[in-house]
Amino acid sequence: MAANAFGIDLGTNNIKIYTRSDDHILVEKNMIAIENKNTLFAYGDSAFEMYEKAPGNIHISYPLSNGVIADIKNMETLVRYFVNDLQRGNSKPADFYIAVPTDVTEVEKRAFYDLIRDAGVKAKKIMVVEKAVADGLGLDIDVKNSQGVLVVNVGYETTEISILSLGGIVLSRLIKTGGLKFDEAIRAAVRKEFSLIIGGKTAETVKTSINDLEREGKGAVVYGRDIVTGLPVEREIPTKLVVECLEEHFHAIVDNVKVILERTPPELAADIYRHGIYLTGGASQISHLAERLEVGTGLKINLAEDPMVSVVTGLAKIIKDDNYKSVAYAIEGMSK
Ligand SMILES: Nc1ncnc2c1ncn2[C@@H]1O[C@H](COP(=O)(O)OP(=O)(O)OP(=O)(O)O)[C@@H](O)[C@H]1O
Ligand SMILES: [Mg+2]
Repeated sequence: MAANAFGIDLGTNNIKIYTRSDDHILVEKNMIAIENKNTLFAYGDSAFEMYEKAPGNIHISYPLSNGVIADIKNMETLVRYFVNDLQRGNSKPADFYIAVPTDVTEVEKRAFYDLIRDAGVKAKKIMVVEKAVADGLGLDIDVKNSQGVLVVNVGYETTEISILSLGGIVLSRLIKTGGLKFDEAIRAAVRKEFSLIIGGKTAETVKTSINDLEREGKGAVVYGRDIVTGLPVEREIPTKLVVECLEEHFHAIVDNVKVILERTPPELAADIYRHGIYLTGGASQISHLAERLEVGTGLKINLAEDPMVSVVTGLAKIIKDDNYKSVAYAIEGMSK
């Protein structure tokens, strides 16, 4: 039987792992909780559960920052635990396909390869795939034969805007905006307008519920601490305030997409015009972003069905179908 294989999309907020042997995708928070500076206390979703609530001796953090590995040791630990859990004791050597951002330095890119090599997961083969290429495959685009495909992935700390053609990347730009910036904007607006301090999780819940609240014509009910009295209170926040405070971030995304379009060779621009923009990534689901992008660029928008997992779904396709293997590459000069 062929070796098992894993496809990994290391997101700043969520780690997504495809396992060939059971054809399943795991999505967990890319988070680690360390007790007394050296003992693993919790990881993944259970570490996130404790976030903003844990005592001082438990340190909870994200090992990735802005899409690149910031804390190698903790990232290795997380990969080892997740992969071991998925292997359920059967730790035979496996192939690993890892998605990497394009617009980062060679050293940062290579760090993803080194991470898998050093994580203690018995990697037989390590292949790298540009995130936007995996995204395209995950969105069911015939990436190898298409010319001029524009993919916008709005994640947690980053938004990656890329132009693909014939299985490769023509242009790519990684900008520092995404779901976290949206949460922070909501927290700042609520603080300013209502003198109320809310937590990050509350802001995220408000953000993900705007769609429904707008439809129902209701405000978002939040609990937080009143700045003046210092006491816990409940308030209803109008959705209008939430949407207004996000506009500046929507603008940043639209403007950066326009910059990429301006740099696109004209023949590809014609194809992009026909296809429209492919919008994906967890935070792309935010209310009104697709509209702003459509109006701002004059292009039609194709929404991902399952935006959080489009990159890892693409990795799964590469693993399952040899026709797509050519989009994955090995990093040369690796020292074992
Ligand atoms: N329904 C929703 N509406 C708006 N935002 C959402 C929704 N569901 C998830 N999100 C946001 O998506 C973000 C996570 O998306 P994703 O998993 O694609 O990011 P990531 O890959 O971990 O980050 P990055 O690509 O920046 O490294 C979070 O900020 C989360 O709040
Ligand atoms: Mg991502």
